[in-house]
Amino acid sequence: MAKPLAAGNWKMNGVKTSLSEIDALGDAVKGAASCDVLICPPAPLVAALAERASGHGFFAGGQDCHAKEAGAHTGDVSAEMLADAGARYVIVGHSERRADHGESDADVKAKAEAGARAGLIPIVCIGETEAERDKGATLDVLRAQLSGSLPDGASGADLVIAYEPVWAIGTGRTPVNADIEEAHAAIREAIAAKYGAPAAGDTPILYGGSVKPANAADIFSISEVDGGLVGGASLKASDFSAIVLALSESE
Ligand code: PGA
Repeated sequence: MAKPLAAGNWKMNGVKTSLSEIDALGDAVKGAASCDVLICPPAPLVAALAERASGHGFFAGGQDCHAKEAGAHTGDVSAEMLADAGARYVIVGHSERRADHGESDADVKAKAEAGARAGLIPIVCIGETEAERDKGATLDVLRAQLSGSLPDGASGADLVIAYEPVWAIGTGRTPVNADIEEAHAAIREAIAAKYGAPAAGDTPILYGGSVKPANAADIFSISEVDGGLVGGASLKASDFSAIVLALSESE
């Protein structure tokens, strides 16, 4: 199994001065982080953040990539460009991309394969809406998203899955632990069905959606949870360091 992963998604937040948070984070977790630490800033900050993060042993990542390597796609960024800027990971299929940009599972799969082609580790995001949960369709939705979005040819440690219930993102609400555990177990089964059991054991499955310092230890105590994808609470070093330390202590 790859190390547990504490991943921060800054979304459309952060300017050059925000990079000082990386040094504050480094100071706060110095020597105590036994997990991998990743920050995914907006694209213009990836190169500078990658440089600063490497001094602390942290990784940088992109929040999205185009499926193609280069071409006439105004405003888009390729996985190769992110890799060239020093990124190690790329988030694909975040629910905000699926909702705001109409990304389908097939789009997400193509982006995940682009990430792998560029030598990045794709973080494939899936999650049910509140209406789907209320209908009792959560596991079916997750299985369908996985079946459409997982890249071909992954072997485990070169892939990360993030389970992010859409209704839990930015709302302060989270599923009960038993529901997170059930979802993660179903995800691991689906990965095993596609790539085999050893690969499934090697693929970190992150939980995302309102992870905060106050609930991080409890969420990371769930046996199937291998880390977190953190939005709002990753913006401030004081909050994100508490989450990194909670993950490190849960091992
Ligand atoms: P949140 O976002 O932690 O602010 O809920 C999580 C995410 O969207 O990855």
